[in-house]
Amino acid sequence: MAGVGSYVPAKILTNADLERMVSTSDEWITTRTGIKERHIAAKDEFTSDLGAAAARRAMQRARVTPEQIDLIIVATITPDMPFPSTACLIQQKLGAHRAAAFDLEAACSGFIYALEIAQQFIMTRTYDTVLVIGAEKLSSIVDWKDRNTCVLFGDGAGAAILQNRPHAHGLLTAVMGADGSKADLLFMAGGGSRCPATAESVASRLHYLRMEGKEAFKNAVQAMKTAAQEALRRCEIDISRIKCIIPHQANLRIIDAVGERIGARPDQLFVNVHKYGNTSAASVAIALDEAVQTGRVQHGDLILLMVFGAGLTWGAAVIEW
Ligand code: ACO
Repeated sequence: MAGVGSYVPAKILTNADLERMVSTSDEWITTRTGIKERHIAAKDEFTSDLGAAAARRAMQRARVTPEQIDLIIVATITPDMPFPSTACLIQQKLGAHRAAAFDLEAACSGFIYALEIAQQFIMTRTYDTVLVIGAEKLSSIVDWKDRNTCVLFGDGAGAAILQNRPHAHGLLTAVMGADGSKADLLFMAGGGSRCPATAESVASRLHYLRMEGKEAFKNAVQAMKTAAQEALRRCEIDISRIKCIIPHQANLRIIDAVGERIGARPDQLFVNVHKYGNTSAASVAIALDEAVQTGRVQHGDLILLMVFGAGLTWGAAVIEW
């Protein structure tokens, strides 16, 4: 993993702002979720813009030019358009003309899914340099009249450059999982082939995400715990050796519950959910970048990523930095 980067839009939406939009309070949001504010993209700023900005920072740190990139994978549930892929739009923005490009949809788990796919291409020596991006403009699918969900989400992007380098550090293992029988816990009904956009579908607010919060919460804790333990078992690494644990930043109570169940010390857990809310596929990518840029992880340190999202999907990854 040669370099990481992230980007969040300038505009900040605070809990106080939300108090003026729906029937909620800073106290409710803070105690139930740990979120204080989130970043919201401008009207003319799209997922591809957020992703490209994060990618440029990762490329600069990895000292990689656009021409060197062989493949771009973008994990997102908020593509600029259903097609072409946001990865193709980012390829054009970066001028990475040699790169193949595709999107990947695994909701909040997308960044780990994308890292693992990138790793497979690198291990088989198909590609030398892969750009992995998690990018979301969730504000475009949030129902700003639904207090159950609108307080939870934010916009942003994170990126990583993976390269084939002998004796280099990087992804040691990644675990991925899914359970489609629980697809109804978190979904957006409108806009696909099942329910194309019509005046009625829009009037029924089907083009916004819907969530069963309590069930999502329980499943998140169990899935991230199981995935993290499996990832550590595969690497034969005890949790006490992990320098920094980066869980999906959805809710501080979920982070604390998972941390306790896997036997993590509080000082191992990385938390930035108070600043960004849940940014889905961008969440652990932004957190990884912050952990690196703030010196929280140093060369040779072990990092554990854990994710959970719609699908349901989940995953965990161990990285040697
Ligand atoms: N402000 C004030 N009250 C609210 C708000 C709000 N913003 N939202 C809900 N409430 C009310 C509810 O209406 C309910 O009222 P009632 O008891 O009168 O019906 C009450 O608060 C309690 O609601 P609960 O659902 O019991 O609250 P809970 O403690 O479960 O917290 C939350 C809700 C924060 C949504 C929590 O369940 C959660 O975080 N779930 C997981 C969400 C998640 O991580 N999802 C993302 C997965 S990742 C992805 O793929 C996008």
